[in-house]
Amino acid sequence: MSDSSYDVIVIGGGPGGYVCAIRAAQLGLKTACVESRGSLGGTCLNVGCIPSKALLQSSHFYEEANVHFADHGIKVSDVKLDLKTMMSRKDDVVTQLTQGIEFLFKKNKVDYFKGLGSITKAEPGAHEVTIKLDSLGKNDQGKAQKITTKNVVVATGSEVTPLPGVNIDEKTIISSTGALDLKEVPKSMVVIGAGVIGLEMGSVWRRLGADVTVVEYLDFILPPMDAEVRKQTQRILEKQGLKFRLGTKVTGVRAGTSSATVSVEAATGGDAESLKADVVLVAIGRRPFTHGLGLDKAGVNLTDHGFVEVDDHFQTNVEGIFAIGDVIGGMMLAHKAEDEGVVVAELLTGLTPHINYGAIASVVYTWPEVASVGKTEEQLKEAGTRYKSGKFPFTANSRARANGDTDGFVKILADAETDEVLGCHIIGPLAGDLIMEISLGMEFTASAEDIGRTCHAHPQLGEAVKEAALAVHKRPIHM
Ligand code: FAD
Ligand code: NAI
Repeated sequence: MSDSSYDVIVIGGGPGGYVCAIRAAQLGLKTACVESRGSLGGTCLNVGCIPSKALLQSSHFYEEANVHFADHGIKVSDVKLDLKTMMSRKDDVVTQLTQGIEFLFKKNKVDYFKGLGSITKAEPGAHEVTIKLDSLGKNDQGKAQKITTKNVVVATGSEVTPLPGVNIDEKTIISSTGALDLKEVPKSMVVIGAGVIGLEMGSVWRRLGADVTVVEYLDFILPPMDAEVRKQTQRILEKQGLKFRLGTKVTGVRAGTSSATVSVEAATGGDAESLKADVVLVAIGRRPFTHGLGLDKAGVNLTDHGFVEVDDHFQTNVEGIFAIGDVIGGMMLAHKAEDEGVVVAELLTGLTPHINYGAIASVVYTWPEVASVGKTEEQLKEAGTRYKSGKFPFTANSRARANGDTDGFVKILADAETDEVLGCHIIGPLAGDLIMEISLGMEFTASAEDIGRTCHAHPQLGEAVKEAALAVHKRPIHM
C-alpha cells in the first residue's frame, strides 16, 4: 500500500464496490477499496448469489438423477447424496471467485485494505476514512489507519431483515447464510417468506430430501413478479413438492434443542396454529447496512427506511460522498449494484454514463427459472397504458420437448400503438439467459416486430421468445 491520499476510496468490496473500484482504477483514478469481511465479493460471492447457485446446480443434478434420468432411458440405482462434498465444492467455487477479485485488484492497481472503514472527517476535497485494520482478528487487530481521499463511495450493502422477537441462531432458526451451510438435510423445514430466497433455498433443501413448507404473509408468492407468472410458478413448485401457506402471518418462533415451533395465524386474523420443523429459515427481505460507517457524524442523510439518500448522480447530500448498491435501495441485485458502480466511477472522471433501471432483469433460479424485465401487466393496467400481449408455451418449443423441460411460457408486452417492448416475463428452462435478448432489445427501444423478425437459431429455447413476439401480432407459427 503506497501513500495515503486517494482520488476515491470505496467502502465495501461487494459487486457494487469492487466493480466501482476496478472501473475507477481503469480510468486512471488512484483507488482504494476497504472491506471488513476478510474476502472480497460481498454478500453476493460469499453468502449470496454464488454459493446459492452452486447448491441449486448440485441439488438440480441430484433431482435429475433421482427423478428425470429414467425418462431419458438412463437407469441409475442407488443415487446417494454426499452433502459434505456438495458443500465443499460450493466453498471451493466461492474461494476461487473471491480470490479472483483480489487478482483483479492487483492487476488494476486498486489498493485493498482489509478492515472496517468509517468516515471520520467529511471535508469536501479531503475526506478522511479510518480503517480498523483486520477487524477479523488476524495480525493487526485493533490498529487503525487513516487515509484521505477526494471522493468516498459507500457500497456497504445489506443484511438480513430480522423477524421481531425471533433470534436467528444459524442452527435451528437460520437466515440465508445458515441455509447455505447446513451440515445435514433436515427432515422438515419451514421457510418464512415466499420471496426469492425462500423459493431458491426452499428448492435446494426440498430437492435434497426435506419436507418444506413456505409461509407467506401475502396471498401470493414472489410479490414483484407478473401475476400470471406467479401463479404458474406456484403450481409448478407445488407439483415438485413445495408446500405453501399463503395469507398467513407468523406470530412467533420458538427454538427447542433440535427443532423449532412456528406460531401462525391467518393474515386477516383467526385461530392460532403451530408448525413444527427441524429448521426454520427466515427470509423476509434485506435491509441496508450502514453500521459503524460514521454517516451520522459525516452528516449524510438517510431515508426513512435507513437507505443512504442519493441524487441522480449517486451523490449524497455531502459533496464527494457517493453511495451505490443495496445500501441505496431499489432492486437489491448484484448486477444493478455493479452497473451503479461503473456509473459512479465514470461520472467521477467526467464521462456521461447512464443506467436504465427499466431494462434490468430479475431472475429467480428455481427450476424452471423465472425471469422478468420491464413492466408487468398489472403495472401497465394501473398506469392506464394500452398494451398488446403475446404468449408462447414451452410445450410448443421443439428444443424444450427434446430436453424434456416443457413447463412454462414466454410473455411479451408491447405498446399498443408504437409496438415498443415494455416488458417480458418468462417461466421456463434457462429463463434467466433467455431474458437477456429482451433486456438488450429494450436498451435499443426494440419493437415486438424487431424481435419477431430476428432470425433465431433452431432448435433453441430462444425460439419461444421470437414466437411470443410474433404472438403479440397474433401470428405465431408453431401454435
Ligand atoms: P454487498 O454485496 O452486501 O457488499 C457489501 C460489502 O461491504 C460486504 O462485503 C460488507 O462486508 C462490506 N462492508 C460493510 N460495511 C463495511 C465497512 N464499514 N467497512 C468495510 N466493509 C464494509 N443478486 C443477484 O443479482 N443474483 C442472485 O442470484 C442473488 N442471489 C442472492 C442470494 C442470497 C442468499 C442473497 C442473500 C442475496 C442474493 N442476491 C442476488 C443479492 C446480492 O447479493 C446483492 O444485491 C449484492 O450483493 C449487493 O451488492 P453490494 O455491493 O451493494 O453489497
Ligand atoms: P423478498 O423481498 O424477495 O421476499 C420476502 C418475502 O417475505 C415477501 O414475499 C414478503 O411478503 C414476505 N414476508 C415479509 N414479512 C413476512 C412475515 N412476517 N411473514 C411471512 N412472510 C413475510 O426477500 P428475500 O427473499 O429475503 O430476498 C432479499 C433480497 O435478496 C431480495 O430483494 C432479492 O432481490 C435478493 N435476492 C436475489 C436473488 C436473485 O436475484 N436470484 C436471490 C436471492 C436474493
